[in-house]
Amino acid sequence: MSGKYKPPFPRVAQLKTAELFAQHLKKENIQLDFDAELTFGADSPFGKAHTLRSGLKIGNSMCILPMEGWDGTEDGRPTELTRRRWRNFALSGAKLLWGCEAVAVRPEGRANPNQLMLNEQTFQDFVELFEFLQTTHFEQFRDTSNLLIGLQLTHSGRFCKPNDKKKMEPRILYPHPVLNKKFGLAEDYPLLSDAEIDSIIDDYVKAAVLAQKAGFHFVDVKHCHGYLGHEFLSAYDREGKYGGNFENRTRFLRDIVSGIRAAAPGLEIGVRMSIFDWVPFQKGPEEIGIPAQVHPYRYAFGGKESGTSADMQESFLFLQELEKLGIELFCTTAGSPYYNPHIQRPALFPPSDGYLPPEDPLCGVARQIKATAEIKAAFPGLYVVGSAYSYLQEWLPNVGQHVLKKGMADSIGFGRMVLSYPDMPADIIAGNGMKRAKICRTFSDCTTAPRNGMISGCYPLDPLYKKMPEYEQLKALKGE
Ligand SMILES: Cc1cc2nc3c(=O)[nH]c(=O)nc-3n(C[C@H](O)[C@H](O)[C@H](O)COP(=O)(O)O)c2cc1C
Repeated sequence: MSGKYKPPFPRVAQLKTAELFAQHLKKENIQLDFDAELTFGADSPFGKAHTLRSGLKIGNSMCILPMEGWDGTEDGRPTELTRRRWRNFALSGAKLLWGCEAVAVRPEGRANPNQLMLNEQTFQDFVELFEFLQTTHFEQFRDTSNLLIGLQLTHSGRFCKPNDKKKMEPRILYPHPVLNKKFGLAEDYPLLSDAEIDSIIDDYVKAAVLAQKAGFHFVDVKHCHGYLGHEFLSAYDREGKYGGNFENRTRFLRDIVSGIRAAAPGLEIGVRMSIFDWVPFQKGPEEIGIPAQVHPYRYAFGGKESGTSADMQESFLFLQELEKLGIELFCTTAGSPYYNPHIQRPALFPPSDGYLPPEDPLCGVARQIKATAEIKAAFPGLYVVGSAYSYLQEWLPNVGQHVLKKGMADSIGFGRMVLSYPDMPADIIAGNGMKRAKICRTFSDCTTAPRNGMISGCYPLDPLYKKMPEYEQLKALKGE
């Protein structure tokens, strides 16, 4: 698809000057402000440090977002490829590593057979991974006192593929009118029972205890991207103590948090959440994404019933809940890479199971920045990390600097961009300018590869992945 596709909007690389970039945003009515000039060193907003209420320090306003590589062993341990990715995170220059990657709390909750898993058997591997991050960072930057490292804990719920890369074994909370059909599940597909959920909560707590023992400063109780934590939030139709009213739909969060507080006192807790969601999209005419036709659509947490715009009233209630629980670390994201990737990770080219962008992907970037700013304004006490900046490419530092200066977020999260350009954060701080040859152009190979049973990585730009036979397979798959 990528070879033939001629987007109806300019590529970011063509918007070479601040004037051209500004003109394009204005013409398309995309609300995205940026600083034409960058500051660096001590004056850079990216260099601003923060101390959490617990006294833990974050040395700058740059964050590496969690990104898994589908490259662990089948018993959930890291491989050399996993360690290489984590090494790059530690060397990036960012002082907040938000979760590193999704780590399953039990075998059947894995999103793929090669997802990392934290349990008694794999514990020592995580001790070593944590030490490895610290040592690597220290060798480069001579200071780890202000490096904050979390581990993202997950159960993949509806998107579990624990045993075979091609076989979904979903664990669902309610029959979803669109997603059940999309993924071939009968309307009466069995639901997780309340007792099973109770035991999943126990596993989160056990994993958090191990994460703390391994040295991690915080765990992220993941509530995003359509995985289990996120599905609870839209379990309006579920009966029993985990569904229906808001209190029940957030019980999963509360029970995990109180379990962790009791069993791992002193461990920071963070939450990464899809702050708004939309209806699932699918390929329409000319392969361009169109929304599923369900009216009213009641399952977008943080979304309107139209299915294609945000209404964050309930997201705000969720944030109030976090505040009551004393949680300070919050990372925003949106939607899901499985059913509406263009709102989650705006890209020029879609993953193989996606659709061509129904809008200029800059709209997707702007939408997440605006929603994040609304959250920061309403909850100034939260430390808020924003996501989905990679599509900005050359303009990422300029937009990020503006967001930080205006207090629209506390930290800028970097995802795909650091797969292709791991030392970009260090370059931003040093004022080195962006290295064009390393800039992620959002070809989505990092998502297409795992969708087709391969490991993830930046095939077009990372020299190691470029040489792999998987890259040829990927090209063949895309008809290139
Ligand atoms: C290859 C890949 C793996 C990812 N793995 C995770 C993950 O484990 N946990 C998570 O919360 N998000 C994951 N994400 C989403 C990113 O953290 C991020 O939200 C997304 O890429 C948008 O940010 P960006 O525009 O900087 O790439 C992944 C994204 C990619 C491309």
